[in-house]
Amino acid sequence: MQQFDAAILFDVRILWIGPTSESSAHLSDDVEVVDCTGKTVMPGFVDSHTHMVFAGSRSGEFSRRLAGASYAEIAAEGGGILTTMRAVREADVESLIDVGDALLTSALQHGSTTVEIKSGYGLDVESELRLLDAIGQLQRGHEARVIGTFMGAHAVPPEHRANPDAYVDIVVNEMLPRVREQGVASFCDVFTDAGFFTVEQSERVLLAAREHGLRLKVHADEIALIGASHMAANLGCISADHLEHSTIDEIKALRDAGVVCTLLPGTAYTLRLPYPDARTMIDEGAIVALATDCNPGSCFTENMQTILSLACINMGMSIEESIVAATLNGAAALGLSGHVGSLEIGKFADVVVYDVPSYKDVVYHFGSNYVWGVWVGGVEVS
Ligand code: NIG
Ligand code: FE
Repeated sequence: MQQFDAAILFDVRILWIGPTSESSAHLSDDVEVVDCTGKTVMPGFVDSHTHMVFAGSRSGEFSRRLAGASYAEIAAEGGGILTTMRAVREADVESLIDVGDALLTSALQHGSTTVEIKSGYGLDVESELRLLDAIGQLQRGHEARVIGTFMGAHAVPPEHRANPDAYVDIVVNEMLPRVREQGVASFCDVFTDAGFFTVEQSERVLLAAREHGLRLKVHADEIALIGASHMAANLGCISADHLEHSTIDEIKALRDAGVVCTLLPGTAYTLRLPYPDARTMIDEGAIVALATDCNPGSCFTENMQTILSLACINMGMSIEESIVAATLNGAAALGLSGHVGSLEIGKFADVVVYDVPSYKDVVYHFGSNYVWGVWVGGVEVS
């Protein structure tokens, strides 16, 4: 096994990287030395797409899907996202924090040092703000880096089913100003897909969100091709996420506009959807990121290592491509590639050590967690 003679010196940020033999010149008495001989040091994963603050369980719907019901059928009956919405509307902020805290802690223990979390299970003004309040408290109190996204346009709630545009009015006129005032969300995301929001409705939300200073994301091409990726390209969204049904047309539009293609192979696995065409995206020069999509319905995992395995086995990605997609390109999907996502001098010291001799083992030996140590901003957290 090839051994690298490498050392990394950091406080909050990375100060120096080089051969161990040259590190003594950079050491002083107050430097703590961690011997990682035989281990693998990598940048923390940047999980740029999750819905990990919610309430309730959808294990019953999971069983129904295994027996043949589709995600879209369950959603059309008022289940799916709306099942979680009912539980969230009943939940207080503390219980929302508890759910998010447990998942975030587990994500960190599996190597994710930055995690984006979306609202979108409240679907009324107060419940969306409560979800964002929970996300904000995790942002301030949890050891992981937490990035907030407002996703009021995740589904049309039952009280507006007859007139979805009236709900879009509420998102634009009532939610967005309060979301801005609250200050937790950096991004606005919309579920632009068959049975959810049309391109026209999505554009209204996204253009208003931009006016309020939020950067834009889209759930695109997951269920059907209705023009979501082209909209993302036209609006200059920072990322378009899912892309299970995207064709070469969508891929080229996203590439040409510099939109990060965030792929969520755990969702394709769970919903038995076709996997996104990662190979074409990469070969055509698009920027591909990987994320969990951690949520109670379409993909219940917070473990990025599993996502890398799925990406390599089912989307034709190499181990090296999957690691870049899960770190630096995830950071790009959050506008953070200058600060996190790689081990470079000047970036935050978000460092994960695995008790395996090669980065290849992290993907190769799937289903086991070899995380041995985690530092976020230079602080050891696990
Ligand atoms: O990313 N696609 C839309 N939203 C989530 C699913 C949320 C849910 O089913 O609870 C997703 O897959
Ligand atoms: Fe999602």
